[in-house]
Amino acid sequence: MVLSERDHVLGRKPPFLEKIASDFTDQDKKDIAEVVVNRKESLGGLIISNTTVSRPDSLKSPHKDEVGGLSGEPLKDLSTKTISDMYRLTEGKVPIIGVGGVGSGEDAYDKIKEGASLVQLYTALIYQGPPVIGKINRELSELLIKDGYKSITEAVGANHKTKS
Ligand SMILES: Cc1cc2nc3c(=O)[nH]c(=O)nc-3n(C[C@H](O)[C@H](O)[C@H](O)COP(=O)(O)O)c2cc1C
Repeated sequence: MVLSERDHVLGRKPPFLEKIASDFTDQDKKDIAEVVVNRKESLGGLIISNTTVSRPDSLKSPHKDEVGGLSGEPLKDLSTKTISDMYRLTEGKVPIIGVGGVGSGEDAYDKIKEGASLVQLYTALIYQGPPVIGKINRELSELLIKDGYKSITEAVGANHKTKS
């Protein structure tokens, strides 16, 4: 419905990106992947992930049980796992924007190797400020060179290639 409204109302087709959380069951993820692959001609891609309503054991703050979506470092591994699952389930056919706890080049690289073509961040900008962007770019370049990649594109989904 969103896609038909986009085509109708706008009269043009800017990319439509579906953003998902990291709180889905395996069955949910399979269902989402099926829909997304079937619509891949009209869908720009997936953004993974939104904040989580789960509370990882690593949390120590007295506020840890407050209601709401959790972002940043505690979300990082959960979001990377969801990226990995969705890349595998969509067989790399749908572009993925990886987001969740990215604050270093290594964090970005982990998401790229699990299947993200682009990386986004929010919380690290609050804790580290705008210089975090340059830092991530520099660190990411070094990691790509170290592993012999000439571009980010070459590294997208690399972990799945070594797994199979
Ligand atoms: C204060 C705050 C507000 C947010 N608002 C939105 C929103 O309106 N729409 C949305 O899709 N995601 C929203 N997010 C989620 C972020 O875009 C992002 O997916 C999530 O925070 C994980 O990335 P991060 O760990 O780099 O912050 C919000 C996150 C925070 C912390």
